[in-house]
Amino acid sequence: MKFKTLTEFIIEKQADYPQASGELSRLLNDIGIAAKFVNREVNRAGLGEVMGYAGEVNVQGEDQKKLDVYANDQFIAALKSGGQCCAIGSEENEDIIILDSEISRYGKYVVAMDPLDGSSNIESNVSIGTLFSIYRRRTIRGAATLEDFLQPGRNLVASGYVIYGSSTMLVYTTGNGVNGFTLDPSVGLFILSHPDMRYPETGSIYSINEANYFSFPEGVRQYIHYCQEEDQETRRPYSTRYIGSMVADFHRNVIRGGIFIYPGTTKNKNGKLRLLYECNPVAFLAEQAGGSASDGFRRILDIQPTSLHERVPLFVGPVTMVKKAEEFMTLFSADFKIG
Ligand code: AHG
Ligand code: MN
Ligand code: MN
Repeated sequence: MKFKTLTEFIIEKQADYPQASGELSRLLNDIGIAAKFVNREVNRAGLGEVMGYAGEVNVQGEDQKKLDVYANDQFIAALKSGGQCCAIGSEENEDIIILDSEISRYGKYVVAMDPLDGSSNIESNVSIGTLFSIYRRRTIRGAATLEDFLQPGRNLVASGYVIYGSSTMLVYTTGNGVNGFTLDPSVGLFILSHPDMRYPETGSIYSINEANYFSFPEGVRQYIHYCQEEDQETRRPYSTRYIGSMVADFHRNVIRGGIFIYPGTTKNKNGKLRLLYECNPVAFLAEQAGGSASDGFRRILDIQPTSLHERVPLFVGPVTMVKKAEEFMTLFSADFKIG
């Protein structure tokens, strides 16, 4: 059988740009390698107790770490040794991590990441993920600075996620469509399984944590009613699907057609999800898959970040669905406009 591996695919794509130095290719490849290590640990997560892992010392004499710390360490280590990335912004670290070794100092890129998304789902064996955003650094000389990260998402060079689910996949875009690779665990290779992923024109799934209904903006409440109304032509009522790992909710919605919403609430006007390493990477993927991503009023990728961990509301899905939700927001919740 003829198949294409992630590494082959990356090299092939690089050949389309003869002027490219190959650094981005190597960076993506390193992310793929780190993903395999994390995947191995995710698959063994349930054995923690049985094998006496958590809190114990493992065979290499290191402390066994919690999965999100482990994932963070793996991705940092991979990016460090690769040399293409000069700084990392991670959900797990308050400040940016500057990679100032001989090889990393001259790296062209900075990476913002959520090493383990959906961590509350780990212990119940539900899909979790990793999210990453890759920017070209802005500063020219010296060590990277926070300024290198505070770029609107439209400047993204690449973004993607790994989903550790019923199978493990790596999905990414460099601005030329979205491609998905499934890990064949028997050979340890990511194989191209979902070329050119695209949202269906419209969908019939909505994903939102409805328990927060009473603190949602009126526009979101009205949109939820709209999703629940009966209308044959638009296939309503839609179905609710909410996993609580955005990566998994987003992945299903791209394939099946659905909108994912994490809105602002009366308590937290900016919602919960972080702009740089949760909203931006999925917004770039969504647009590349023919969909769109908004904070209810404006395009996510146009938002100018002001800090590493800032949050924004997120509405992401097929264009028609996001537009409809935005209409409700404009009509009923102008008071929730931010920025
Ligand atoms: P993380 O595990 O990185 O903190 O992210 C969890 C996020 C996201 O994946 C998910 O969609 C959302 O939190 C769920 O939040 P609620 O439990 O408030 O619905
Ligand atoms: Mn997350
Ligand atoms: Mn996380």
